[in-house]
Amino acid sequence: MLATLIYRSRLNRTLDPSQLTNLVERASLRNSQLQVTGILLFDGDHFLQVLEGPLASVNAVFERIKRDHRHGNVVELLRDFAPRRRFVDRGMTLFDLRVMKPAAALRAILRFGTLRYQLASIDRVYKFIRNFIASQNNNDRVRSTSPEHWCFVCKTPPFTHTNAPVFTEQPCQFAFQPIIEPLRGNISSIEALIRGPNGGSPLEYFSSIPSDKLHEADLASKAWALAMASRMGIGNHKVAINLLPMSLVKIPGAVDILLSHITRNNLNPGQIIVEVTEDEVISGYEEFTWAIRQLRAAGIGLAIDDFGSGFAGLSLLAKFQPDKLKIDRTIVTDIHLHGPKQAIVKAIIDCCAELQITVVAEGVEKVEEWCWLEAVGIERFQGFLFARPVLNGISPINWPHRISR
Ligand SMILES: Cc1cc2nc3c(=O)[nH]c(=O)nc-3n(C[C@H](O)[C@H](O)[C@H](O)COP(=O)(O)O)c2cc1C
Repeated sequence: MLATLIYRSRLNRTLDPSQLTNLVERASLRNSQLQVTGILLFDGDHFLQVLEGPLASVNAVFERIKRDHRHGNVVELLRDFAPRRRFVDRGMTLFDLRVMKPAAALRAILRFGTLRYQLASIDRVYKFIRNFIASQNNNDRVRSTSPEHWCFVCKTPPFTHTNAPVFTEQPCQFAFQPIIEPLRGNISSIEALIRGPNGGSPLEYFSSIPSDKLHEADLASKAWALAMASRMGIGNHKVAINLLPMSLVKIPGAVDILLSHITRNNLNPGQIIVEVTEDEVISGYEEFTWAIRQLRAAGIGLAIDDFGSGFAGLSLLAKFQPDKLKIDRTIVTDIHLHGPKQAIVKAIIDCCAELQITVVAEGVEKVEEWCWLEAVGIERFQGFLFARPVLNGISPINWPHRISR
């Protein structure tokens, strides 16, 4: 099967661009042996490379290229399959935009194409090339800070206690994890993540409950989450709790029940954020809308959780406009390497800016992920990089500090 791969990368200052010709000659030879063809564009700062050939060969070449220290910030933009090659059967050809005008470069690339007319008019690969040439030096490319510029300092959260003893009659436990604004040194909230009676996963806990009691148990469990947060002495900090959307629909007076749990634990509604997941089908939109209105009227915040993992996210967003939107970890993981994920996150940020919704990135584990997300304007983060969830307590938080040079 003929695979196509496009990536973008950035020259490392250690490579003298004059060595490029040599690099391309060697690459071309190796590619030919592997039946890989394609082109390499260089604008003095960034590369864009198209590789095409048998899937295994393209993968093998790309793995080697990724490890090459002569460039960095390698971001995969496209993986696709095609019925035939787009570029003539020569391993690799360089188009050096430092010495070619954009229009001339495009013409030269087209001459090099096997399907000149199709390539020019409709081809997606060609559109990537055209976009790269048009955007050279204008830097809508994200420039994140380098991970080496940061060190992390661990600090205990300013709560009275960092653990919360479990009540004897409690049917479940909770692990707490902070959501932070790293560059402001601010804890924006702590999320209470449900665990089974022995600390097992949420799935394990919920699967032990008869299905007709699921929503009742879900809502009732929040009383314990709030009691534990209150016991930790969180002061004015906010607590995020997860609710199945249908718990608000199926349990009569759900919002009043929740409000009574909040006040009984000496918390105020403005401190609470209800996170609804998008993976449970909301069959009673009207009742759900009513419950959301009540939540909002009581001053309780609303967040869409795991945005991007399920199928109801966009319709939830269109109908309910939450205060916060949490981007799912599946999109966040390795975002610094992945063009399609980057495009999705940029679009989410634009949409949320227009709707005045705060974006939170969850599941952040790598410094590189955080640096990229900060660079596009996200300020709130949750993930192992900063603090792991701790059963019946909260862990110290790793705060990033810029290393002064
Ligand atoms: C921007 C750029 C593009 C490259 N393209 C190719 C290529 O298409 N094919 C290839 O074999 N090597 C290419 N290389 C070189 C490889 O990264 C690597 O140096 C080479 O495959 C030798 O790998 P090895 O040292 O593991 O044998 C490229 C390097 C850079 C910096």
